[in-house]
Amino acid sequence: MTSTVTEIAPRTYRISTFAPDFGIQFNQFLVADDEPFLMHTGMKKMFAATRDGVASVLDPSRVRWIGFSHFESDESGALNEWLDVAPRAQAVCSFVGATVSVNDFAIRPPRALADDEVLETGRHRLRFLATPHVPHGWDAGLFFDESMRTLLCSDLFFQPGDPAPLTTSDVVGPARDAMVAGQTGPLANDMPYTPYTDATMQRLAGLKPQTLAIMHGSSFSGDGGRSLRELAGVIRELLANDGG
Ligand SMILES: [Fe+2]
Ligand SMILES: [Fe+2]
Repeated sequence: MTSTVTEIAPRTYRISTFAPDFGIQFNQFLVADDEPFLMHTGMKKMFAATRDGVASVLDPSRVRWIGFSHFESDESGALNEWLDVAPRAQAVCSFVGATVSVNDFAIRPPRALADDEVLETGRHRLRFLATPHVPHGWDAGLFFDESMRTLLCSDLFFQPGDPAPLTTSDVVGPARDAMVAGQTGPLANDMPYTPYTDATMQRLAGLKPQTLAIMHGSSFSGDGGRSLRELAGVIRELLANDGG
């Protein structure tokens, strides 16, 4: 496995590993700042590819913060490998994530972030947004890089295949197609529709991101607020009345 590294916003690197057995990309994001921030660790079995991708930008042992949306193999599976290779690194996640999973799993304690808490890494300010069950998981949260207006949006805007690193074309249509297709497969029902799903999506849209750093698929450069409002509409359409 190898990774492809692309700077999708200033000092923000997308480290992409395509996994043929899944038919999708697993994209990690590195904010190369004084205190380097890595969003998602990737799975354990792709650790070497992710580490080598990071090494093309900076010394992996310098990684200081490891963020992820929710506790899942692709988001945080290689957390301990990263904590081992980067002695000053610390996981940052929601209070729920720390309490129910990461405190026990990680070889060093995580730092639990409150909703709206800001992590300053040097030139970048990363705001943590607690987003329970968006995209999925009780512990879910997202990070918004206020300095570059980049939303690190985890599984939202999922696109299968091995598409280009960055696009200015529509990402909502492909995400909608993937959601429709996904509902007929063995991994259906990945995203619940809760009483606060739409409010969470509107809150994300209100951030007006200029870049969407998407975990599976192309990143997007453009009117991220509009894309998020449109995706909220798709989620309402497809999920709000689907099985109650
Ligand atoms: Fe996920
Ligand atoms: Fe994912």
